[in-house]
Amino acid sequence: MAVAALGAAGQAAAQGNAPIKVGFMLPATGTFANLGEMIENGFKMHVNEQGGKLAGRDVQYFKVDDESDPAKATDNVNKLIKRDQVDVLVGTVHSGVALAMAKVARETGTLLIIPNAGADVITGAMCAKNIFRTSFSNWQPAFAMGKVAAERGHKRAMTITWNYAAGNESVKGFTEGFEKGGGKVSDNLTLPFPNVEYQALLTQIASQKPDAVYAFFAGGGAVKFVKDYVAAGLNKTIPLYGPGFLTDGTLEAQGEAAQGMLTTLHYADNLNTPRDNAFRLAFAKNYKTNADVYAVQGYDAAQLLAVGLKAVNGDISKRDQMQEAMRKAKIDSPRGTFSLSAAHNPVQDIYLRQVNGKNNEVKGVAIKSLADPARGCKM
Ligand code: PHB
Repeated sequence: MAVAALGAAGQAAAQGNAPIKVGFMLPATGTFANLGEMIENGFKMHVNEQGGKLAGRDVQYFKVDDESDPAKATDNVNKLIKRDQVDVLVGTVHSGVALAMAKVARETGTLLIIPNAGADVITGAMCAKNIFRTSFSNWQPAFAMGKVAAERGHKRAMTITWNYAAGNESVKGFTEGFEKGGGKVSDNLTLPFPNVEYQALLTQIASQKPDAVYAFFAGGGAVKFVKDYVAAGLNKTIPLYGPGFLTDGTLEAQGEAAQGMLTTLHYADNLNTPRDNAFRLAFAKNYKTNADVYAVQGYDAAQLLAVGLKAVNGDISKRDQMQEAMRKAKIDSPRGTFSLSAAHNPVQDIYLRQVNGKNNEVKGVAIKSLADPARGCKM
C-alpha cells in the first residue's frame, strides 16, 4: 500500500502536475455547428462530474473550428499537435475532415478519439492502436435501416444524400441491408456538401415514385430537407427513412414536418434507464437544452479517455498501457453499456425510433450488439 502510494505521488511530481491537454477539433460554424457544441458540452460535463480532473490531473482545453472543411483539415489538426502540443485530439463531426485527422494521427502517433464522424475506413483499413471512436461507423445505423425498410415490405427505394464519405457510405450500408432483405435501390441522388438546394432532386423523386426514400443529412441540412420533403407533399405517398441523424437535435426546428418518422440510431430520447435519465437531467440543467446523440458521443469520449488515464495513474507517457485499457473498456454510456471492437469502434444496439413531438421515441431494437465489419483492419 505504502509503496503504491509513493509511486503515484512520485509520478505526479515527475509530471509537475501538468494538466492533460485536450485538443477539440470540431465545427463551430456551418451546418454542423450545433453538433460540435453538443459534443464539446457532453465531453466537459463528464470531466466536470469528475471534479474537473481525470486520474488526478487537471484538464486544459484547446480548440480549432474545423468548419467541416476537409481542405483545411491538415493545417487545423497540425495547429493542435504542433502549436498547442496537445496530448489527445478529440474530433470531429465531418467524415472528410476526420479522414485527414486520422491520417495525421497515424503519422504522428497522436492519440485520437472520434466523437462522431462515421467514416468506415477509420475503423477499417486505417485502423490503428492510437485511434478510437465513441460514436458509430456510417455502415451501422444505415445497414439497420435497410433491414427495417425491407421488413416493412418496401420493394423499391431511392436514396438521397450529400456526395461525400458519410453520405455515400450511409447509402451503401442502407443498400446492403435493404437488398439483403429482398428490396432494390433504383437510384442514388446526390448534391455537394453542404448544399441545401433540394428542389430539383425532390422533383425526380416525385416522378420516379419509389416505395420509400432513404436520406442521409444532418444538422441544418437535415432540418431543411425534412421540411422541404413535406412541403413538396412527398411524405403523403412515399415514406422517408434515414439514420437517426435526420431527426436528432433537429426536432425543435423541424416541428410538424418530422412527426411519425422512423429512423435507426444507437440512441433515443426516452430509453428511460436510470443511467440515461440521470445524464439527461444533468445535461439539461447544465446547458439549458435537451441532450441528443452528439452530447452522448462527446460524454463517452471523455469517459473513454478517463478509463485510459486511470489505468496509468495519469501518466499519459505510458501510451501502450493506456491504449490497451481503452481497447478493453466497457463504457457505461447513456445509450447503454458498450465495448469496443478490435478495430476500436463501438459494438452497440441500434434502436428503431419514431418521432413523437420533440422526442425520438424508442420503438425497439433494430439490431442487437451490431459490430461494424471493419473491412481491411489489421492492427
Ligand atoms: C459524418 O460526416 O460522418 C457525419 C456527419 C454528421 C452526422 C453523422 C455523420 O450526423
